[in-house]
Amino acid sequence: MLIFESPEDLGKACARQIVDLILENQKENKPTVLGLATGNTPIPVYRELKQLVQKEKIDLSQVITFNLDEYLGLPIDDPNSYHSFMFEQLFSDLLQTSNLDPRNIHIPNGYAKTERDLSSQELEALFIAFPNRIKNSPLSQEEELWILKQRADQYEHDISRLGPIDLQILGIGTNGHIGFAEPGFSFSQDTSLVQLTENTRRDNACVFNGEVPRFAITMGIGTILKAKKIYLLATGEKKREIIEKALQFPISPSIPATSLRMHPCVSFFLDEAICPRTP
Ligand code: F6R
Repeated sequence: MLIFESPEDLGKACARQIVDLILENQKENKPTVLGLATGNTPIPVYRELKQLVQKEKIDLSQVITFNLDEYLGLPIDDPNSYHSFMFEQLFSDLLQTSNLDPRNIHIPNGYAKTERDLSSQELEALFIAFPNRIKNSPLSQEEELWILKQRADQYEHDISRLGPIDLQILGIGTNGHIGFAEPGFSFSQDTSLVQLTENTRRDNACVFNGEVPRFAITMGIGTILKAKKIYLLATGEKKREIIEKALQFPISPSIPATSLRMHPCVSFFLDEAICPRTP
């Protein structure tokens, strides 16, 4: 457990670790696969990471990223999508200032309303699965769900193909979710479609312009636990209670973050608002 005076200090330390990992892998000519989170907590990490990359001219050509999750039903360019968040907070800048390859950025896509939203492989598979489908008609709910499930499987497959994830960055929800693996989510489940709890929708409403979607696509606990190393980040008093539970309550799907205690290499990055230092 690492405790920092402020979220900014936490961000600096975490970004340093990420850069050091990239440099270490580079020496052995190995790619670095990063698992990334959205939300408020990692913002200082991304701010510092952008600065370090620019200042130290870090080579990102071998860096591959996988984001944890995305809402269902939001076009990727919707200002509330996690795609938009990641490009705003990290990727747009890195793509301009470094040699990060845009093809190495992976973020689940939760939008499949019309044929134009599908890749050519997806379209082909759709017509095989639904032979009576009328060309160019909007996707029915059944077809949309089918495509989204295919995407979840494909995402898991891509992580296995390009992974394992060297370092997974996580935040934590006030109900103990990691990614959008909500309470009750089986520990063995991999990338899946999930229904968001009212607690999560309420927590996210303050940064969301409009109604928070009810469903999401997320890496599962099974996916997350396959990462070689995990950093769970939490800052602010609001997270104190859930961090105590994650560390002390019995390991159970009712608090998804307790699953992290089954992982051999996990560090909790906390600030003093959660874990005050004793004088
Ligand atoms: C986001 C994610 C979520 C958040 C969690 C905390 O990709 O996976 O688990 O990490 O909801 O969000 P913040 O950091 O906004 O408190």
